[in-house]
Amino acid sequence: MDDLRDKYLTAIAGANDEAALEDLRVQAIGKKGEVALKMRELGKMTPEERQIMGPKLNALKDEITSAIVAKKSALEDAALDERLRGEWLDVTLPGRTRRPGTIHPISQVTEEVTAIFADMGFAVAEGPQIESDWYNFDALNIPGHHPARAEMDTFYLHRDAGDDRPPHVLRTHTSPVQIRAMQAQGAPIRVIAPGRVYRADYDQTHTPMFHQIEGLAIDRDISMANLKWVLEEFVKAFFEVDHVDLRFRASHFPFTEPSAEVDIRCSWEGGTLKVGEGDDWLEILGSGMVHPKVLQAGNIDPNAWQGFAFGLGIDRIAMLKYGIPDLRAFFDSDLRWLRHYGFAALDVPTLHGGLSR
Ligand code: DAH
Repeated sequence: MDDLRDKYLTAIAGANDEAALEDLRVQAIGKKGEVALKMRELGKMTPEERQIMGPKLNALKDEITSAIVAKKSALEDAALDERLRGEWLDVTLPGRTRRPGTIHPISQVTEEVTAIFADMGFAVAEGPQIESDWYNFDALNIPGHHPARAEMDTFYLHRDAGDDRPPHVLRTHTSPVQIRAMQAQGAPIRVIAPGRVYRADYDQTHTPMFHQIEGLAIDRDISMANLKWVLEEFVKAFFEVDHVDLRFRASHFPFTEPSAEVDIRCSWEGGTLKVGEGDDWLEILGSGMVHPKVLQAGNIDPNAWQGFAFGLGIDRIAMLKYGIPDLRAFFDSDLRWLRHYGFAALDVPTLHGGLSR
């Protein structure tokens, strides 16, 4: 029996894995194992012999069982240690630096302009980018034969042959939002409408999609003087300067009468733009007193109400303010460009907090 014990305890101590242990268990104390065979021999023994040998065999069986259990848990511990060594991780290493995204200059400038006009009591209005030709043209006093339709390089939406519903277009300007806002809110009204507009044009200063902000203020006695003041306040606040010179140049738009294009005094000394000084003039927007026919299209009585409107290119003033030379870069989604010209995501432009800090 001592031989049996030595044989199995040595084998168990040397077992390399659970499968080997299981084989040893079957061989030693399984139903047909060596200990079981010895137990069968008890029947042939004398009662005296049996009284000695029975407990001894049971003790041997227990000893082998606990040796297997102990070895099994030792093997498990070793396996865990091995895994922990392999999956080791230094939690004291510094984390990877985060690369937060940036706010695109177009979004930034839209927010800046919105903050400035909100301060002057203008609400934000919106309209669809796919617009009927009535809102985009007719309602704005641009009838079918008008040269302005051709000048705008309009994208028309496809119509099947025989489908003679009136055409839809990608809006060529934000001016149709004037009509929608008047129809929805009536007079008096003070809104700006920022958004995307589309024209079939592409070169260094033109992209087929760009951004405008429309402005509209209608009340009983609004005049060109109000327009002038509002635009001066806007330009000063936007370019963050105390003084600006604006030049109102007589112009023509079908939807305003009279109409004016507005230039700001600037200098390009040393290749950088300075607003408010110098001898150059830079056109920044179109404006005028809303045409009576446009008021009518918006269901507003032109004998009781009047007001001004203006349209401003966001991309253009973004390039000017932030010294961005090529318009097309706005739409390249180049991460290096965005990191350079983008704005911190949490710096929301406000008049009290600073527009562009
Ligand atoms: N809609 C014009 C354009 O896209 C800009 C414009 C000019 C808008 C004069 C106006 C305005 O509201 O009064 O070129």
